[in-house]
Amino acid sequence: MSESNTGGSDGKATFTRRRFIIGTVGVSAVAALGGTVVRAPRAVASGPPSGPPTTTLPLPTTTEPEQLLLTWGSDPAREVTVSWSAPGTVAQPAPTLAFSTRPITAHNPGWLIKLPDPKPLDVTQRYGEAASVSFADGLNGQTTYFYHVQLTALEPGTRYYYQVSDGAAAPSTAGASFETAPHGRAKFRFSSYGDLATPSWDLNTSGNIWHESCDNSWFAVTAIENPGDGKGAPLFHLLNGDLCYANLDVDNAPGVWRDFGNNVARSSAHRPWMPALGNHECEFGVDTMSGHPGSAAGGVAAQAAAGNYWNGPYGFGHYLSRFLLPDNGVTNWDGNRLRGNFYTFQVGTVKFISLDADDIIYQDGAANYVINTANTGPETTTTGAEIPNGTTTYIRFYTGGLQLDAKEDSLVPDYASGQPNLQTIWLEGTLAQARRDPSVDMIVVFMHQCAMSTSVPGNGSDLGIRQAWLPLFDKYEVDLVLSGHEHDYERTYPVRGYDAGEHGTVAAPNPGQVKGAAVDTRRPSVVTTEPQAFNGTPAWNTGEGTVYLVLGGGGTNGPTNTYGTDTADDKPQAKVITTRNAVVGTEATGFSKNGADSVEDAPWSAAINPTDAYGYSIFDVDPGQRPGETTITFQYFAIPAVTNEAGSAHDGTTTLPTQPTEKFVFGRRVGRP
Ligand SMILES: [Fe+2]
Ligand SMILES: [Fe+2]
Repeated sequence: MSESNTGGSDGKATFTRRRFIIGTVGVSAVAALGGTVVRAPRAVASGPPSGPPTTTLPLPTTTEPEQLLLTWGSDPAREVTVSWSAPGTVAQPAPTLAFSTRPITAHNPGWLIKLPDPKPLDVTQRYGEAASVSFADGLNGQTTYFYHVQLTALEPGTRYYYQVSDGAAAPSTAGASFETAPHGRAKFRFSSYGDLATPSWDLNTSGNIWHESCDNSWFAVTAIENPGDGKGAPLFHLLNGDLCYANLDVDNAPGVWRDFGNNVARSSAHRPWMPALGNHECEFGVDTMSGHPGSAAGGVAAQAAAGNYWNGPYGFGHYLSRFLLPDNGVTNWDGNRLRGNFYTFQVGTVKFISLDADDIIYQDGAANYVINTANTGPETTTTGAEIPNGTTTYIRFYTGGLQLDAKEDSLVPDYASGQPNLQTIWLEGTLAQARRDPSVDMIVVFMHQCAMSTSVPGNGSDLGIRQAWLPLFDKYEVDLVLSGHEHDYERTYPVRGYDAGEHGTVAAPNPGQVKGAAVDTRRPSVVTTEPQAFNGTPAWNTGEGTVYLVLGGGGTNGPTNTYGTDTADDKPQAKVITTRNAVVGTEATGFSKNGADSVEDAPWSAAINPTDAYGYSIFDVDPGQRPGETTITFQYFAIPAVTNEAGSAHDGTTTLPTQPTEKFVFGRRVGRP
């Protein structure tokens, strides 16, 4: 299928092509073929709640293990971390993990690991092989418990069985099995999406509906266990941020995380789920930004006014308690170890890098309490914590500063300040090492926010990513960059460098900007709009340019799959955030926050999906015969919205398509003899 409908007569690429719109053809084809109808078990509650609870609901006091979660260690061929949780606010009496290459039975008890007593999350410390972590939510006071065992020295490409126990007098157990990554050059499959949220009331453990709850979140997990092409579940999944939106339910964040944990456990008990931090992992609480208890006089009610409005380190306390991810070895300027904030691992010939773009984006607003009404009181939670109107969590440069390199129109670590951006330094070191390593053919970066998006109701493209990290993605020839944040699908052409002569236009000025003025957006340069062919499938040479995929269709109830077009010339148009859209106002007037400030023509936008906001991606990696020959075959499967997605309960059923809406090959030898 051709990517374009108008070609350059001279054989050169032109940028006058209409974007390839996916969805319509795919969906009708699916209807003709008949998909698998997945019917969900109904019924915890007797009927849909009217909306998210506004008081803190109790959590269970039982200790049966649940929310099983596997993640890779630094070497996925040999290291897997097994994590699980207690259902509520009571620690497990004597938790254990048993594992074996054969099923755990009375006759095969496996290797037994006993976990230590729980300690509150403390990211200044190293974690041992086994760790029990507690976290007290700053806004509702509930303490929840997370258990981690880092298995090492496993055999590559081997199935392991495991069973966890709460160690009670009459123990409760849960378990499953997983496969370690293959050693060396091998084929494997992975999957990805972001913005998962929680299922609606009928499919949640709790029976509640939370902010962003939607049953599409349930079907997105179902799909990972049984992808539409019938070729089996992936080895692992990449979860591109905005995991469950717990920061929107200020009275019940632990309860939201629990429903998320149980939903994903339907897959994450069987294969690693590797997350990236998104804006919604940043939560309000009563700690300092570094995660230490706030000490302002006046107790919890006074903390936010004193700036102590963080739920654990940088607001990521729940995330960092729940996931024990590969260690990047980086210690932040405040003494916190940044393990899990960003990390890398390699499977086969592909290097994967998870980044926290919250560190470098301009856009403001992870957790927000911004009400544009005069004399609005603080948001008050059930423990008495108060968030004053006009408060947002903004963590740009939390690992150190960046400064302008005018020659490259880029932002580089600010060594002169004495506190350069540690994540960007780590990123460059990691990329350089990967490109020196003969065992690495392709590099896949995943993170939450977007360098390029033409979504209209979504957030838009962030210049911060373009300035700080695109120069590195170009220099080290990153092959694919996966994101979420926009609740939709979009694919770019391969891009490299930027269109130095181009500019965007200020459309919704932030303070200091003038409407209609030209603005630098560092617009990425399209390498080609004409795909190659690889065994009959359209293919892009990612050695020539990086392809960016927006994969934010995990299942939130806020789809954003309406895409911008410049009405003057019918070409794609994108919103761009070029300056911080900081909160403005006073308590007396109320507070407001701007969205994206500018727009640009977006010739980089290659494919959009106005039909389906939801979907999942399947990537099949083939290392080829010789070094450098790795290809990744990408399939995007849409998931139609559930039958009652527009209703207040966001529930219902859907049909999982058996045909992808897009199929492409990415590789560095594509199109070369
Ligand atoms: Fe999101
Ligand atoms: Fe987001």
